[in-house]
Amino acid sequence: MRVLLTGGAGYIGSHVAVQLAEAGHAVIIADDLSNSCVEAVRRVEELTGAVIAFHRLDVRDEADLDALFAEERPEAVIHLAGLKAVGESVGVPLRYYDVNLNTTLTLLRVMAAHRVGRIIFSSSATVYGVPEALPLTEESRVGVGLTNPYGWTKFMNEQILRDAAEADPGLSVCLLRYFNPIGAHPSGRIGEDPAGIPNNLMPFVTQVAAGRRDRLRVFGDDYDTPDGTGVRDYIHVVDLAAGHVAALDRAPHGVSVFNLGTGQGVSVLDVVHAFEAATGVAIPYEIVGRRPGDIDACYASADKAFRELGWRTSETLADACADAWRWQSGNPDGYPRD
Ligand code: NAD
Ligand code: WQD
Repeated sequence: MRVLLTGGAGYIGSHVAVQLAEAGHAVIIADDLSNSCVEAVRRVEELTGAVIAFHRLDVRDEADLDALFAEERPEAVIHLAGLKAVGESVGVPLRYYDVNLNTTLTLLRVMAAHRVGRIIFSSSATVYGVPEALPLTEESRVGVGLTNPYGWTKFMNEQILRDAAEADPGLSVCLLRYFNPIGAHPSGRIGEDPAGIPNNLMPFVTQVAAGRRDRLRVFGDDYDTPDGTGVRDYIHVVDLAAGHVAALDRAPHGVSVFNLGTGQGVSVLDVVHAFEAATGVAIPYEIVGRRPGDIDACYASADKAFRELGWRTSETLADACADAWRWQSGNPDGYPRD
């Protein structure tokens, strides 16, 4: 298929691009490079031998997007473009609502104009808010306890996409709820390249390992979890990417929703110890206070994706740590900027 990948120069998008190309799909990337660089796309080409059609554009720009559809004739869309920093979204909510909602609205209009009837959307476990019970299934309650505009944009995008599919029987929508993506391609050529101080655990750990930061701050050890630190479901980005290819191949017509996670809850200290064991590098840390908005524990039931898409994770936490470290140590300053 000819697949348009919005946000395809980013962390997750570049890994999805590799697997789409390896599965024989033609990959078209639309990205404004606001949080990425074109070197990632070059490296996807280097890893796969495929030629990627790259368009630098803001997905909210309807004229540019329309021209892309006319030129490239995509048959399906995987929509990852957007802003993703939870803390930042609290300070600049209008920017988050503008980018994260208007990218989707513009895409849906242009897809309808060009009669493109399939979209796969990057949603997030964040839509579950404060879990009522674990593991989280696709039927678990959503939208209660959301504490930031970023999370609301994912919740609202899901509703927009459901309503659009309801109104147009020719439109199929697949909502993929990612848990916590970590790791990098095993080649060490593509990976996560956060600007500034990392918000997320794994890039912070790899920067401590690289000596760029003196120690990890563990946000709270008084959670209701086995060791008191926060528990999450960390999924290797290569497994996550494979979930998109499975959804493209096998998601049913109409609206579908799948958790993409491992099903395993892992604590912050488990991650630290797994990283040390996988790499032989010590991670100094100190326990500090809780980070506002954090929850005790969050992990998926990934049974539905296995049943209906034939997809499940195969990489381990140790793999993810080793791969994240290979990427970080081979690219200490991330991608070279143009
Ligand atoms: P990322 O920032 O690396 O990738 C997003 C890409 O979108 C970037 O390349 C950025 O330049 C591009 N972009 C932003 N605004 C754009 C616009 N208006 N037009 C065109 N391109 C634009 O982030 P990521 O971690 O790869 O996340 C990809 C998607 O997955 C996002 O929608 C994110 O919310 C979602 N997600 C991420 C996580 C996570 O922990 N990384 C978890 C759940 C969901
Ligand atoms: C994981 C654990 C922290 C950093 C966020 C978004 C979520 C999704 C994934 C997009 C928590 C602890 C972290 C640090 C720490 N993104 N931690 N020290 O918060 O589960 O999820 O990213 O959709 O929506 O909210 O991920 O990696 O920030 O934190 O102790 O320096 O690590 O408290 O327990 P989180 P995270």
